[in-house]
Parts: sequence; C-alpha cells; structure tokens
Amino acid sequence: MQIYLVGGAVRDELLNYPVYDKDWVVVGATPEEMIKNGYRPVGSDFPVFIHPKTGEEYALARTERKSGKGYSGFQYHASPDVTLEEDLSRRDLTINAMAKSSSGELIDPYGGQNDLATKQLRHVSPAFSEDPLRVLRVARFAARYAHLGFTVAAPTLKLMQAIASTDELSHLTKERIWQEMERALSERSPLTFFNVLEQANALEQLFPPFTTLVNNDKAQQIAAQFTDTTETKVRFAALCYVCFHTLSEAQTKLDQFCRDLRTQNQTRELAIHTLIAHPQLQCWSSLSAENKLALIKQLDLLRRPERLPPLQASTRLLSDTNTNAGELLANLCEELKGINPKALMNDGYKGAALGEEIAKRQIAICELF
Ligand code: CTP
Repeated sequence: MQIYLVGGAVRDELLNYPVYDKDWVVVGATPEEMIKNGYRPVGSDFPVFIHPKTGEEYALARTERKSGKGYSGFQYHASPDVTLEEDLSRRDLTINAMAKSSSGELIDPYGGQNDLATKQLRHVSPAFSEDPLRVLRVARFAARYAHLGFTVAAPTLKLMQAIASTDELSHLTKERIWQEMERALSERSPLTFFNVLEQANALEQLFPPFTTLVNNDKAQQIAAQFTDTTETKVRFAALCYVCFHTLSEAQTKLDQFCRDLRTQNQTRELAIHTLIAHPQLQCWSSLSAENKLALIKQLDLLRRPERLPPLQASTRLLSDTNTNAGELLANLCEELKGINPKALMNDGYKGAALGEEIAKRQIAICELF
C-alpha cells in the first residue's frame, strides 16, 4: 500500500500556513489490511480509518457517485485498484486536490500549484456541482485567503450559481450551514464569505438577513477592527447588529434566525444582548439610574457575569465614539454585587423591607455611574 498526505495539509504547507489537520489517502489496500495493521474503522460503510497512534484520518482511495440530494447523498467505491489521481479528481478545488508522497514528492494532476501561484479558487471537474456544501466551502476559503489575493475563478462561480439555481442548497442541514458560517466568521476576511455567496446567488437562500452586509460601510468598519483574538460569537453579534437594527422586530427575527441555524445558546444570547445593550451604552451618561439597573437585570448580568466581557467586546466594535460605557457597566455590576443581603438581614431587614432596601441601595449605586 502507498500512503499520501492530501487535501488541506498539502495546500497550507505550500502556502506557509500552519497545518492543524492531516488527512491521508491509502492506495492499494483493503479494509482488512488496514485493520490488520492496527487502524480503527470510522464506520462500517465508510472507507476511513483512524491511525492507532496519531489519531489522524486515513481514507482508502475512492471514487464516488451521486445518489441523492445534499452533500451526503453519495455512493462510495473504494478498492485497491482506485488510483490516487482518481481519488484526487473527486475533490472540490484544485488547491485541495494535491498529494504528497512519503518521500516528499508532490503529486498535482489538476494544476493546484499553478492556481496557488495565480491565486485562483478553481474547481477540479464538473463533479464539483454534485456537492452543494462546496458553495459554502469555496466562500469560506475565499474569506480565508482573500488577503493573499485569492478570488473565485469565473467558471467555478458559474458552477456555484448553477447549484444555487436548483433546490440543492435546501438539502443541506442547518447545523452544517451554521458550521460553515461560524468557521467563515473566524477567518481573516469574513465579509468576503457573504460577498462570494451573494455573487453565487446563494446568500438570500442561505442567510436572508445577511444580504444587508454586502457593500455595507458599517459592516466593513466593524470587520476592519477584528483581530486574531476577536471571538467568533463577538464577530457574529456585531455583524448581526447591522442586519437587524429595529429592536422589537429584530429581537424576534434574530432569535428565530439563530434557533433555525442551531447556533450555540451563548452565540444567540450575545447577539440579542448586543442589540439590546448597544443603543443604551451609546447614551449611557444620560440614562437614568433606574434604566441602568433595568438593563443589568434584563441581561441578568449579576448572576451571569461571564456575559459581560463578550458584550463589552461586541458593543465596543459597534461604537463610533471612544466611549468607556462598557467598562462603566462592568464596574457598576461589580459594585452592585457588593450589596450583601445577609448583612442586611443581620441589621434586621426582612421580607418586603429587605427587598426594598436592596433596591434602594442598587439605585443609589447606579446614580454614581
Ligand atoms: N473535500 C471535498 N469536498 C468537500 C469536503 C472535502 O472535495 N465537500 C476534500 C478536499 O480535498 C479537502 C479534503 O477533502 O481538502 C479535506 O476536507 P476538510 O478537512 O473538510 O477541509 P480542508 O481542505 O482540510 O480545509 P480546512 O483547512 O478548512 O480543514
């Protein structure tokens, strides 16, 4: 059997990018031989094995045939006579269809190196269109490599448009769509993801509210402030503010959007809390003590202090001025936590009187911020 490094690891090594995941292709082997050599099969009907020591994925060279809708509707044919070139030909982009042998030789039958040099995201073959997930993947790769000058090759964009003109995108699961969007948001140029989907006529279908982001100055101003340490949920929350800006309607729509996509709860909460908090933080100094306290209670910040740092980050991204309102909010919460109901009880407060005294002291503290 021959073993080759394939896919993203080869691409990123050539781009001098850090390589996190290594995928391998095994040519000339049967499942029985793999098991005999200590590899663990991933599933009964899928020709992928896990290396006993490294935990990396080793897939038997395979061809595939579309047999249903969506990205999982495929029949695989893996056998020792499938060649490396055949395996590489079923892959999405030429830059993802290169392999490296154990002696370090690069195998590049579809022009991946040339496309790396000319910075083109180009499909390998018409079979690209069989997997609708690739529309999202290409947009995500564009978001990752845009700063290097990569663009989607015109014929590939045409295929993406053709996929978007059928009902194929509707067969992708919401989880998978969110997974791609979440990864795209963490890339260097997240707005490129939405721009490319728009060019492919897929944005409206996949993320209707996010059509607003295309050619949007505010979105560009926000994204320009992202750094390597800006968390994905913070990026999402700040961009959502641009897409959903009328509060009451947006609250329900944004909530529904996040639930539809099955985002994590904290991602959904942060996006909604940003929508609620940002306008109030903008005019913090003119808010009444009662309004400040109401905001803190609405967002449950005293019991959920972990909500504060991401909220400060998302609202800072949105702010046009150099306001320190987020910091004041955090300091205020800290002070409010200093009110000790037990001490008040020791002083003789109980029942309704205890509640009233706490509220009085909370307002008094809010007056100071
Ligand atoms: N692949 C494909 N079509 C897909 C998914 C994957 O052709 N829908 C192929 C590509 O050759 C890809 C490889 O499988 O390079 C591995 O896929 P994956 O690990 O998802 O992506 P990477 O290319 O490794 O990229 P990333 O850095 O985002 O993990």
